[in-house]
Amino acid sequence: MTISHDTFTFVADLVRRRSAILLEPGKEYLVESRLLPLAREAGASGVDQFVAQLRANPSPARTAVVVEALTTNETSWFRDVAPFDALRRHIVPELRAGGLGRLRVWSAACSTGQEAYSIAMTLQEVLVPTVAVEITATDLNEQVLERARSGTYTQLEVNRGLPAPTLVRHFQRHGSGWQVSDELRRWITFRQHNLLDVPPPGGPFDVVFLRNVLIYFDLPTKRAVLERVRAALRPGGYLVLGAAETTIGVHDDYERVVLDRATVYRSAGGRAAAAAPAAAPTTAATATAASLAAARSTLAGVPARPASAAVPPRPVLPTPARPAGSVFAPTSTRGAGLT
Ligand SMILES: C[S@@+](CC[C@H](N)C(=O)[O-])C[C@H]1O[C@@H](n2cnc3c(N)ncnc32)[C@H](O)[C@@H]1O
Repeated sequence: MTISHDTFTFVADLVRRRSAILLEPGKEYLVESRLLPLAREAGASGVDQFVAQLRANPSPARTAVVVEALTTNETSWFRDVAPFDALRRHIVPELRAGGLGRLRVWSAACSTGQEAYSIAMTLQEVLVPTVAVEITATDLNEQVLERARSGTYTQLEVNRGLPAPTLVRHFQRHGSGWQVSDELRRWITFRQHNLLDVPPPGGPFDVVFLRNVLIYFDLPTKRAVLERVRAALRPGGYLVLGAAETTIGVHDDYERVVLDRATVYRSAGGRAAAAAPAAAPTTAATATAASLAAARSTLAGVPARPASAAVPPRPVLPTPARPAGSVFAPTSTRGAGLT
């Protein structure tokens, strides 16, 4: 370990206050390896000096860049498969039986967007065009959101969980990589949101995917996040957690429901009226979204890129209904030339 105890303590405390992510003793190597590239970009001799500079001049934007660097953004397409099967085979049919006219989904802590696009692809297979779909996808990290909005992925990334027919159907070639179709990108609104804040606009939600993020939080934070999510769910709405996560022993107002190989949670006492204020208050982390790109660019010595791709929202699914079970059946040969 080459970073000082003081540097580690400062960074761990900062990251915990801004994101709730726990960096316990033993994670010094993680802090050092994540901050070293930023230190180099800033011309500092090492992480200790870089952090000393930050402490001397703690601008919100520079602070946010450091917090973002300490997030873990591991994700993949149709991660764990079973939750997406449950959405297609059980959750959507149940909602449709109740006279569904609009489906609102929140992909919380969506990282680079694979989860949100996997939800969109799944819904496109099973919903009729008359059902309006609104997917809100959020993350603390503006850098991963920029990638999510662009919908562009390398060959290596699409190889992680995306069946070839699905790739052919929903993507087009983009340089040496791939880009998600404009059609799917229009269904999703990507926005920066900190799970420590009240839920984002777009609810009340019928389904919330909150996967593989609670694992980074302590128990009181998990409980508080689950309470905010419960308030953002419509009564009876579904919560989908990561494979290693549960509401049991954390929050009592969720009912555990097993749907084939998936375990999901149903909101027992959700209050639709309490959900999704028009304008959510922001933490210091979310308030710095605009200046973040500029700060990152300053660190990197390159001009800032625009924050979002210009794809206007489109509320109604345009594709005709397809028979259940056809999720991975290609209906188009666009994108042929798959390698
Ligand atoms: C491991 S990824 C999970 C991605 C996706 N949900 C999945 O399961 O594949 C965790 C994500 O949580 C985000 N995150 C961490 N703390 C957060 C917070 N306080 N608010 C919002 N997002 C947060 C990180 O930026 C990261 O992209």
